[in-house]
Amino acid sequence: MDKIPYLRKDNFYTNSELSLIMRELNYFTSHNIILSDDAEESGAFSPDMTTKKAMWFNEVYRQQRFSPTWRLADKVLQGPTHEFFDLSPMNRNILDTNTYSLLLSYYENDGFYKRHCDSCHYTALIWFCNPPQKFTGGDLIFHDSNEIVKFNNNTLIIFPSWADHEVTPIKLDAQYENKQMGRYCLSIFFNMEHQN
Ligand SMILES: [Fe+2]
Repeated sequence: MDKIPYLRKDNFYTNSELSLIMRELNYFTSHNIILSDDAEESGAFSPDMTTKKAMWFNEVYRQQRFSPTWRLADKVLQGPTHEFFDLSPMNRNILDTNTYSLLLSYYENDGFYKRHCDSCHYTALIWFCNPPQKFTGGDLIFHDSNEIVKFNNNTLIIFPSWADHEVTPIKLDAQYENKQMGRYCLSIFFNMEHQN
């Protein structure tokens, strides 16, 4: 197909929002809270799919209000979901979603996520790193359309979850390992829950 109807927003968060988020994300990595190497735990389907570490916000916090990053994830629900809706008829159900789960992933040297699709309706990704960026790679490939979206700090991408995608391997110089200088990705998985 020609193009995946994805939305891209650069400079998504303001500087003050970004500093709140980075303080929390850096705390998670420096205190080893992002623990899971288990592929299923981290949202993948098989262990050879990915080498990232990940954590679900609802397993770390009992309530959204305790986490600045989780609270600020709601910013995606404001303008961007409406812009995404307007992009294509394929995105029509985004405004019918009524629940999301939030996953934080972290990739260091040679970290990758092979080709897969997500088991939800729509996926939003927000990319972060501590400046200046010390790694290469970590780009997103949409295989159905052979599009490559280069990693960029503080960029939001929303796409339909059926789109096959991949994260290319991160190359980080050994001197920057274990120093929070890798690639952070916040994933928002949108779903529809039937309410009685
Ligand atoms: Fe994915």
